[in-house]
Amino acid sequence: MEKDHRPDRAEMQQHLEDLIHTHRHWTGQGNVATYIPELGKQQPDLLGISVCEADGSRWQAGDWQTPFTIQSISKVVTFVCVLLDNDYETLTKTISVAPTADGFNSIVNLETKNEHRPLNAMINSGAIASIALVKGDTMETKYRRILAMMQAMTGRETLQVNEAVYQSEKRTGDRNRALAFYMKSTGIIQGNVDELLDAYFKLCSVEVTCEDIAVMAAVLACDGRSPVTGKTLFDAKTARIVKAVMTTCGMYDGSGEFAVDVGMPGKSGVGGGIMAVSPRKMGIGVMGPALDPKGNSLGGWKLLQSLSRDWDLNIF
Ligand code: DON
Repeated sequence: MEKDHRPDRAEMQQHLEDLIHTHRHWTGQGNVATYIPELGKQQPDLLGISVCEADGSRWQAGDWQTPFTIQSISKVVTFVCVLLDNDYETLTKTISVAPTADGFNSIVNLETKNEHRPLNAMINSGAIASIALVKGDTMETKYRRILAMMQAMTGRETLQVNEAVYQSEKRTGDRNRALAFYMKSTGIIQGNVDELLDAYFKLCSVEVTCEDIAVMAAVLACDGRSPVTGKTLFDAKTARIVKAVMTTCGMYDGSGEFAVDVGMPGKSGVGGGIMAVSPRKMGIGVMGPALDPKGNSLGGWKLLQSLSRDWDLNIF
């Protein structure tokens, strides 16, 4: 029988608190994102963790209640919806499931590789193209569908867009505009690009806590069933595809190192969040806005690396 290296329940809380204490210094070695000016106002030394087990029990420590914007972790939710709304073979003719050795907002691959298709749905180009393929007559309907899935996955109907971050991103999001207009020129996306980008910016600006992303990750750990609400939100095949692409692409060009260091499907956001999935065991949400040069939370990564080692969560 598989040996469970986790401490007993009484020790779990203490263990998470110890980890926050011993890892907070890493936040001093990263930088908050400033290319979205509003994110530059975040407090860099925040560090929090939340764990949601497959039975719905939750454990938390540090700044787990401090809200931050979900940013690219929203791409996981968009990917779930686009998989539910499209046949997989057809979808991959528009967005593939290939890894990238470039940054999350890279443009170069759209022209030089992969027949103009975004490499995967975890990078900016792939997420923008995905939103357009979600079911709905208007961009507003597509946006509402993805937001509703985010609310269902976190179990929190009160999730809201942080208006200041949304406006800040909208004002400065020219790289994303470039990606979207380029994809329109090659026929990857159709329709109104400004409305599409607006939906993308809003989805990135939804405010969450560590607990919210831990619960989201737990839904993936439980193959689409929420351990908190008991509802089945999607099927196991969808969960499997999402976890596979998170493993190979969720941390962008840092995905290989993350697989070695942490060994779990993960997804980061420039708001400082990372969610990680321990299949059938738990979802983990960490937050630390000080980022490494690839845009991944430095303290969050180190926390996950230690937790994975201590509780034997590495799937490899
Ligand atoms: O589009 C952007 O650049 C941001 N809204 C999201 C990027 C992001 O979170 C990358 N993650 N580490």
